[in-house]
Amino acid sequence: MRVVILGSGRGSNAEAILLAQQAGRLGRAVVVQIFSDRPDAGILALGPRFGVPATFLDAAPFKTKLDGAAEEHYIAAINACRADLIVLAGFMRVLKPGFLTAFAGKIINLHPSLLPSFPGLDGIGQAWRRGVKIAGCTVHSVTQEVDGGPIIDQAVVRIESDDTLESFAEKIHAAEHTLLPAVIARLSE
Ligand code: GAR
Repeated sequence: MRVVILGSGRGSNAEAILLAQQAGRLGRAVVVQIFSDRPDAGILALGPRFGVPATFLDAAPFKTKLDGAAEEHYIAAINACRADLIVLAGFMRVLKPGFLTAFAGKIINLHPSLLPSFPGLDGIGQAWRRGVKIAGCTVHSVTQEVDGGPIIDQAVVRIESDDTLESFAEKIHAAEHTLLPAVIARLSE
């Protein structure tokens, strides 16, 4: 199963996926390409480290969505990879119908909350400010409804009285780093 990862940030989840692959824990999945919409994103540094092509793909002029010529550019680049699965690992853009139709049923997203609670931006901060005691992360299929597609799996995190926003965020990320590679491995089998 040929996997393409899209990300905008530091890439800790892409790193977890690549470490799982190195350790033989990614089933029949192989990461063939990383794309980022930000030239300075940490995720791009994983390419040379793991021997995977990692490429900046400009999505301008839009800031929060993938649309227009940039969408077409992304579709062509991913098609050239012959991707079986597209993993959104911190890709901070809304996908439009053109992209979703081109890769229908092949896109999964990681979200740092127990959906359907706290969709959208800053899922961790939203949960923290709401004061929930049970939180977590979700991997779901991507549909037109932002963070609303069918849930594939979730992991639970408990917020203890001595947690801070920082320690809570660390727990969420640790849960993500286990959940996402496990889901990819399972899908590949
Ligand atoms: C992750 O926490 C992921 O759940 C979140 O971005 C972070 C990326 O971290 N995604 C979203 O909020 C999507 N709405 P990373 O770059 O270290 O993998």
